[in-house]
Amino acid sequence: EDDILGKLPLRGKKVLITAGPTYEAIDPVRFIGNHSSGKMGFEIAKAAANNGAEVILITGPTHQKVSHSLIEIVPVTSAQDMYDAAHEYFNSVDVAILSAAVADYKPKDVATQKIKKKDSTLTLELEKTKDILASLGDIKKQQYLVGFALETNDELENAKGKLKRKNLNLIVLNSLNDKGAGFKGDTNKVTFIDDKEIITEFKLKSKAEVATDLLNKIISQINA
Ligand code: CTP
Ligand code: CA
Repeated sequence: EDDILGKLPLRGKKVLITAGPTYEAIDPVRFIGNHSSGKMGFEIAKAAANNGAEVILITGPTHQKVSHSLIEIVPVTSAQDMYDAAHEYFNSVDVAILSAAVADYKPKDVATQKIKKKDSTLTLELEKTKDILASLGDIKKQQYLVGFALETNDELENAKGKLKRKNLNLIVLNSLNDKGAGFKGDTNKVTFIDDKEIITEFKLKSKAEVATDLLNKIISQINA
């Protein structure tokens, strides 16, 4: 962590990270969410800061804690909040890593009063949220843009499709197949696919180790 000689590889670089779930309001007391713990994003933030980067960590609601002089936490709730925060900082960063589990759909109308129990069924109409990662891919200049892909089938093909469609430099494929992997636990089984379609498959590892592997890959790519 010490950088007396100024040798840390990300010294002087700014890194934006999104983490955690988003909560989409149904009414004043209810929301649609998911089980993302935020752990992966927080580990990436720590790994980036330990390499000397100045980190903007935009996070949905989580129980994760981090205290590091190089990490600024920007707490958000909904996908729209996360979109706004990401766009506020994106132009000033060198690297953006979008690991958040953003809701794909949100209630079309948010009830202003608590919805009362009435009929035996209740239908909520949902509409798509904005794709934050794709929107950054559309406007990116020199930024190195990293996305995640959570897949259960046709994993490599789906991940490659997201890499191209969203104009990314790197995608981290998260395999849900293997026991112990996933966004709730402490481990992940990942595969990196870069924009040259170089594929690197890793064994099941702790999220801290995955974060180290990811930062090493990014450092080697931005210095290439
Ligand atoms: N993502 C995002 N904004 C959204 C949805 C997803 O920024 N509204 C980002 C995620 O943070 C992740 C990447 O897009 O880095 C891929 O997310 P994923 O859920 O795997 O893919 P989707 O494009 O949402 O497609 P699908 O869920 O249908 O597989
Ligand atoms: Ca999705």
